[in-house]
Amino acid sequence: MAQDATDWEHQSAANRDRWDRYAQEHLRSWYRLGDFRNGQPTVDDIQLADLHDVGGKALLHLQCNAGLDTLSWARRGATVTGVDISSKAVEIAQRLAHETAIPARFLCSDIFDLPATLNGAFDIVYTSQGVLCWLNDLRRWGRLIARLLKPTGVFYIMEEHPFAATLDETEFKLRPDCPYLHIAAPDHEDGATYQWFWSLGDIVNSLIEAGLTIRFLREYDFTFYQRVPYMASDDGRWWRLPGYRLPLMFTLLAQMSPDGQGGDAVR
Ligand SMILES: C[S@@+](CC[C@H](N)C(=O)[O-])C[C@H]1O[C@@H](n2cnc3c(N)ncnc32)[C@H](O)[C@@H]1O
Repeated sequence: MAQDATDWEHQSAANRDRWDRYAQEHLRSWYRLGDFRNGQPTVDDIQLADLHDVGGKALLHLQCNAGLDTLSWARRGATVTGVDISSKAVEIAQRLAHETAIPARFLCSDIFDLPATLNGAFDIVYTSQGVLCWLNDLRRWGRLIARLLKPTGVFYIMEEHPFAATLDETEFKLRPDCPYLHIAAPDHEDGATYQWFWSLGDIVNSLIEAGLTIRFLREYDFTFYQRVPYMASDDGRWWRLPGYRLPLMFTLLAQMSPDGQGGDAVR
C-alpha cells in the first residue's frame, strides 16, 4: 500500500525528533570517541578492506549521525559530505570536524530532500549500521543513490541483516518475533518512532531497478551491536549468537556502470 507524503512528513519528523533527543547519548554510547580523538578510524576493518581506496574520491555519507565515520573516511583522503536529518547530530559532526581540523561538509536534510545540485557528484555513496529501518521507500532510496553517483561511482553499505530483526527480543527460539518480508505499515510499537522491515531481496532489487550492478553481497554470522541480550561478544565490537551460524549482518557493493568494469574502489 503506497503511503502519502503527509504520512512520511509526520513519520520522518517523529524519527528526527527521536534522533535529536538521542544525539548526545548516541555519541557517548555508540562511538569510540576516545579512539577517534586519538586518530583511530571508527570505521571497522571489514569496511576499510572493502572500500580500500577512497583517496581523492568524493564520498557522500547518507544518514551520517554525528559524522565520526564520515570524518574517518576523510582522514583516509576522501572529500566527504555527510547528511543527516537530525540537526543535533549534524551540529556535533560540524563541531568535531572543526575540533579535529578535518575538512568535511555536513548537511542537515532528509536524504529524500537532497538538492538536485548534488546529482552525479559522488564517486562513492556510503551508508552503514542502522539506516534502512528509518526509510519508508527503498525503491526511492535506490533511485536516489543512482542519481547522486557519478557514472562509474560505487555504492557501499554495511547493515544489519534483515534476518536479525526477526529474532525474539528476550530468548533465542526459532519462532520469529517480527516479519521478514516487507509490510507497508510501519512498526510504531514504541509510540514514538516509525520503522520499516526490508528483506534482503527488497534491498538488492531497489538498487538493481535503479540501474546499479551488484558487485558483491556478503553475509556475516556476527553484527555490530547487541540486538538481543543472548548475543555475546569477545571484543565489544562484534556480536554473535553462540552456537549458531545465522545471518546477522551484510555488506554490499554496487556500481553504476553496467559495462562490467570494476571501479577503483572495488576489491
Ligand atoms: C543508527 S543512526 C546511523 C548510523 C550511523 N552509521 C552511526 O554509526 O551512528 C541512524 C541515523 O539515520 C538518521 N535518519 C533517519 N531518518 C533519516 C532520513 N530520512 N534522512 C536522513 N537521515 C535520517 C538519524 O538521524 C540517525 O542519525
